[in-house]
Amino acid sequence: MIGPMKKLVAISELQEGKALRVDLGSHDLLVGISNGRYYAVENLCPHAWIPIGAGLIRNSEITCPWHGLAFNLENGQCTTWPEMDRLKCFDVVAREGFLCLMTE
Ligand code: FES
Repeated sequence: MIGPMKKLVAISELQEGKALRVDLGSHDLLVGISNGRYYAVENLCPHAWIPIGAGLIRNSEITCPWHGLAFNLENGQCTTWPEMDRLKCFDVVAREGFLCLMTE
């Protein structure tokens, strides 16, 4: 059973390898698709606490354009500097043509 959800973007807007910004007010998110899986992460790099912006998504990682740190999109772990704080990840699901954020 799936709990409450919030629509983020139409699946048709997502492109493999490209992060799309979705500002919910309460959270500034980057959403994307990599290797056929959907992701949503906070648009805030834990390295310098500044927005990642249009980071490059490749092989289930997002690379921050500021200093090049890469983060795993499934668990937020920094793959280029393992001691770094994790990037916050959110649970998402595709429903009826939309990428939806699981809110509980
Ligand atoms: S701010 Fe993201 S790598 Fe430095």
